[in-house]
Amino acid sequence: MAEQPSNDANVVTLRNESDVAVVTIDNPPVNALRHAVRAGLAACFDKAEADAAIKAVVVACAGRTFVAGADITEFGKPPVSPILAEVCKIVEGMSKPVVAAIHGTALGGGLELALACHYRVSDAGARMGLPEVKLGILPGAGGTQLLPRAIGPEEAVRMIVTGEMIGAKKALALGLIDAIVDGDLTQGAVAFARKLVTEKKPLRRLRDQEDKLAATRKDPKKFDEIAASLTARLRGLRAPVACVESVRNSFTLPVDEGMEREREIFRELVTGDQSKAQRYIFFAEREASKVADMPAGVKPRDVKRAAVIGAGTMGGGIAMCFASAGIPVTVIETSDEALQRGLGIIRKNYEASAKRGAFSMEDAEKRIGLMTGTIDFNAVKDADFVIEAVFEEMDIKKDVFGRLDKIAKPDAILATNTSYLDVNVIAQSTMRQGSVLGTHFFSPANVMRLLEIVRGKATAPDVLATAVAVGRKIGKVPAIVGVCHGFVGNRMLRARSIEAERMLIEGALPQDVDGAIVEFGFPMGPFAMSDLAGIDVGARARKALGVRAEIADAIADLGRYGQKTGRGFYIYNPGSRTPQPDPEVEAIIVAASKKNGITRRTIDKKEIVERLIFPMINEGAQILEEGIAQRPSDIDVIWVYGYGWPIWRGGPMFYADQIGLPYIRDRLAEYAKRANDPRLEPGTMLNRLADQKATFASLTDSKKTVA
Ligand code: 3HC
Ligand code: NAI
Repeated sequence: MAEQPSNDANVVTLRNESDVAVVTIDNPPVNALRHAVRAGLAACFDKAEADAAIKAVVVACAGRTFVAGADITEFGKPPVSPILAEVCKIVEGMSKPVVAAIHGTALGGGLELALACHYRVSDAGARMGLPEVKLGILPGAGGTQLLPRAIGPEEAVRMIVTGEMIGAKKALALGLIDAIVDGDLTQGAVAFARKLVTEKKPLRRLRDQEDKLAATRKDPKKFDEIAASLTARLRGLRAPVACVESVRNSFTLPVDEGMEREREIFRELVTGDQSKAQRYIFFAEREASKVADMPAGVKPRDVKRAAVIGAGTMGGGIAMCFASAGIPVTVIETSDEALQRGLGIIRKNYEASAKRGAFSMEDAEKRIGLMTGTIDFNAVKDADFVIEAVFEEMDIKKDVFGRLDKIAKPDAILATNTSYLDVNVIAQSTMRQGSVLGTHFFSPANVMRLLEIVRGKATAPDVLATAVAVGRKIGKVPAIVGVCHGFVGNRMLRARSIEAERMLIEGALPQDVDGAIVEFGFPMGPFAMSDLAGIDVGARARKALGVRAEIADAIADLGRYGQKTGRGFYIYNPGSRTPQPDPEVEAIIVAASKKNGITRRTIDKKEIVERLIFPMINEGAQILEEGIAQRPSDIDVIWVYGYGWPIWRGGPMFYADQIGLPYIRDRLAEYAKRANDPRLEPGTMLNRLADQKATFASLTDSKKTVA
């Protein structure tokens, strides 16, 4: 973490405002509860307890937020006393009322600290949550026992299993906080504390509050139903199940036993492989948008208005990202028909989300109201950030960029959403190559978190910084990549596709290949994914490259484009997205084996997984060697957020380090020999690291340990 104060003695301070002590945590940037903070809290609370002149205590935070949780960098290391649970016990046990004053975000251990206080107030903008599940753990300082006592087990299990935050208004309605303070928060909290004293209000320790548990104790059916729906599709994740178990303990066990069991489960999870991988991704995500050679002091450009060229599959989704983030956006099409179709889909998507309860219908209308559709290309002149999402054809892109250059504001940034094309060549059709870059969204663009930011050879630092800032603002996880065919994600995907196809010819069927990788933890396999994206899309991309995929192309030639035509590698019942094996596809595959003189054999799951994943790792290593990705962890972020790599396996490069690079190198050499395909040969970097018995992680000097 940056900006840590040099003097640990000042991270927690105590000042007396007449008869109320204000304990202030000041540990930038997010007031994480590292050891010095915990020790400081314990000391300040002891002092406040001992001071007879003090009648109440307020705990508040300096800077941008209340405590955002335990210090994640300390996980995996031996715990040092006082641990957070001990601090919470001191706070809870105080003989004078303690009030938490929450601003920003009270998360994880931060919310647990607040739950240990006798009362909680916040400002109107505060948000609260227990996001531990996203790190592969559960709240370990009483959260699973105290939150149900504050808001009821049903609401608590929902918050704890999803890890999502709630705002101050909802927190007040649920009983998580006692008041929303207008004006100065600390002063409001002091006044609130003083009133408690004057009115002789009891110390309200949540551990003793049982009323919100009563209904669930009597009939846990609703709780069970919510828990079941929250854990229905976990694909191997363990933490959510543990969260449910622990919340259930809140109404089935006495509080001390519940607390003890929570602590045991926490210890089990925090030392496990899943949490290690998830913590790694937490830091990797934040690293991926940092540019190693960014000059100091570079400021992003101001982006008040965006424009998107093309309202097709991607353009529509991209425009939604801007509108949802409150940024006005102009959508430009070539014909009224295409425009109306695109805007119609956007409206339908927003209305569907509102119906699902993601936001109100009024919010949906607000978002739609931020969009302007037009077929007048000149409308681009008002935009600060333009994203082109027209057909994937170089000549069309060049034409669009040439026109954009003439019409857009001089300092407007021009971005392309191309999947494969050379961003440098696209930039050359403008007189402002420094303001051109790639912003590669993933489908559906309004849902998928990943944003590959493609840095061209002329892209200016402030343009890159602006793309990162815009990416964050619209809720994406930006990862910076260099120019090459398919950038990082699609280039590695291609390595996987080649091997997937080869396995079909050797003896596997689509459902065997997909089944093995789904069992590994992916939401879907390569063939189901092709059916979803459209087999014609891949076929066109191969054609442009002058390469063939025997089976995929044969299937595309039959007009079987996947879900959109009801048939692809699988067959789909009308209205269904569930892939069903199709004997016609099996016949095509078997015929291809025969034509190639191959006797089909059963390929076991282990081999399928290795042959899908090891070539990707090899390609990833090559990408690093070429400097297309800055760090191995960037590649992992791309695969987790763009392609459904199971987060608890930490991404392909992290996974490779766990398996061991010498093993992967040897297996690839063997597969290359068998297939007589030099593309499978281990590349320079993989060979070198394997020889040195080194890891991909050793290539970066990260201080964020997750050991
Ligand atoms: N521990 C250590 N470092 C943390 C941290 C934490 N809990 N939370 C954030 N940081 C670091 C980030 O790595 C980043 O460091 P960098 O500047 O060197 O890259 C810096 O703080 C700023 O973080 P963000 O870039 O994420 O800042 P944002 O303003 O975008 O977001 C936030 C702020 C919403 C607080 C976000 O950082 C966040 O969600 N943090 C994690 C919250 C969390 O998971 N808390 C639970 C921790 S586990 C726990 O409490 C266990 C307990 O039950 C015992
Ligand atoms: P699409 O075919 O759905 O949409 C393209 C739209 O651009 C059409 O509506 C068309 O009318 C419009 N258009 C064409 N020329 C135009 C012009 N000169 N001015 C304004 N509008 C114009 O295509 P899709 O899938 O949205 O792809 C767009 C871009 O995004 C491509 O470069 C593609 O490679 C890339 N991409 C696609 C992904 C996907 O999964 N579909 C994923 C990531 C990137």
